[in-house]
Formats: sequence, C-alpha cells, structure tokens
Amino acid sequence: MTEEEVPTTEADSVPIVPRMEKIVGVDTGVETQALAIETGRTVSKPIKILGIAGSLRKDSYNKLLLRVASKLLPPTVKLEIFDISGIPLYNQDMEATAFPGEVKIFKRKIEAADALLIATPEYNHSYPGVLKNAIDWASRPYGQNSFDGKPTAVISASPGLFGGIAAQDQLKQVLLALNTRLVPQPAVIVSSVQQKIDPDGNLLDPNTKQFLTQLITNLVNLARHFSPHEPTFIAPALKPIIVDRLKREPHP
Ligand code: FNR
Repeated sequence: MTEEEVPTTEADSVPIVPRMEKIVGVDTGVETQALAIETGRTVSKPIKILGIAGSLRKDSYNKLLLRVASKLLPPTVKLEIFDISGIPLYNQDMEATAFPGEVKIFKRKIEAADALLIATPEYNHSYPGVLKNAIDWASRPYGQNSFDGKPTAVISASPGLFGGIAAQDQLKQVLLALNTRLVPQPAVIVSSVQQKIDPDGNLLDPNTKQFLTQLITNLVNLARHFSPHEPTFIAPALKPIIVDRLKREPHP
C-alpha cells in the first residue's frame, strides 16, 4: 500500500459529498478518485504543509517548534521545512532581470504546498526582518503573489513571558493583506519556551501540545476544504458512469 492509499481513519476524515466535476475535471488526484471508485471507501488526500521559520539561528526555538509540530501530524499529512537563509535581500531592480533562483524555489514550494505553517520569533515587538524579506520576495512579481488563497497558520516561541504575541499580530496583518486564509484559533504562543520544549524537541508542556495539535487539525481541515484534490465519496450507483467517463476523458 502506497502513502497515497492510506485509508481514512475517523480522526483524519472530512465531510464528503459526491461531486462529478471533481472526477473528470483537470485537477490531479485522479489516483485518489480511482481508489475511491475501486474500494467504495473514502480516502484522504495526502496534505503537504510547508514550514517556514522566521529565525536563521542554528538552535532556534522556532525551528524546534516546527519540528515538534511535525511529530503531531496525522499520518496522511507531511511537513517540509524550508530554510529561508539563502534568500537575498529584496531589491525591486532584480525582479525583471535577475530574479533569484532561491526565491523561485521558495515560491514554487509555497505554491505546491496545501498549507503553510510559519513559526516566528519576536524581535522588538515585531517579527524578524529576514522573514518579512522572504515574504516580500514571495509576493512578487506583481500579480504573482505565491501566498494567494493559501491556508496558513502562525505560531511563535520565545524565552520571554509574552511568547511572541506582538510578532504574531503583525505577521498576521501582513498575511491577511496577501490574501492567505489564516487559521485564527487556537493561538499557539509558546512563552518561556526553554521550559516547555527540551533541546531534543520533546514537548514537556501538555497545554502547548493540546493547542498545537488543535491548530494543526484546523489548518489541515482548512487545507482539505480548499484543496482542488478534495477526496470524494462515490456512491455505488454512480461508479459505472464515472468509470466510463474517466475512460473516455482520461486525465491529461
Ligand atoms: C529579541 N527577543 C525578544 N523576545 C520577545 O519576547 N520580545 C521581543 O520584543 C524581543 N526582541 C528581541 C530583539 C532582538 C533583536 C533579538 C535578537 C531577540 C528574544 C527572542 O525572542 C529570542 O532571542 C528567541 O530565542 C529568538 O527566536 P529563535 O531564534 O530562538 O527562534
């Protein structure tokens, strides 16, 4: 059984409705549909989350928080962490003639992801300039904003008592302006992080675990809702019609 074929567990399922256009449309995900036809069961589309940390620091707590989050994912969800340290300083002059390769990769990763999880430190009551720089690049060129419509959640960690709440607020404002679909609740603001996560990434605080798990669940549900590859339950009576149409109009 391949990763794509993992049957849905109850916790990992979403409400399913029959939708003919999803079966024969130009979207990918045909294998998922075909499996549903074959088995008559609902399957979960694998969800890809791109994790972005707003810190370049080797031992960053926010990088650690992303790794902690990756351990809490349901089986059909994968998190890949993108390192923004290779992204150059934004310069509009470079857009037309020297658009950086690393930014092209970053943009492609964002666009290919079903959802984003951004972990930000707080610097001087805001989020770090390196993160804003990366966001500015990925929002360009004009009309090619890679964040458009992307389900996104923000988390933060700080050794301080406020956990990066001001950084989150400001980052969320920017992400709203970029038309991401932000997950508003629950807020995951990890204050005194050194007491809550050990250096090996073990989560020591049950509340943090509970809130982070809930936020990830909400993000995944949002991603599934807006995903063009939403899994589809196929009523037995429809199967022969759909199989016939799939044969006549195969996916390109
Ligand atoms: C900080 N730090 C910090 N913390 C906080 O809670 N509120 C703040 O306003 C600031 N301001 C601030 C400014 C600058 C320039 C630095 C370098 C640091 C502390 C910060 O949260 C701490 O260094 C974190 O560990 C940074 O996150 P990473 O690198 O561990 O992910």
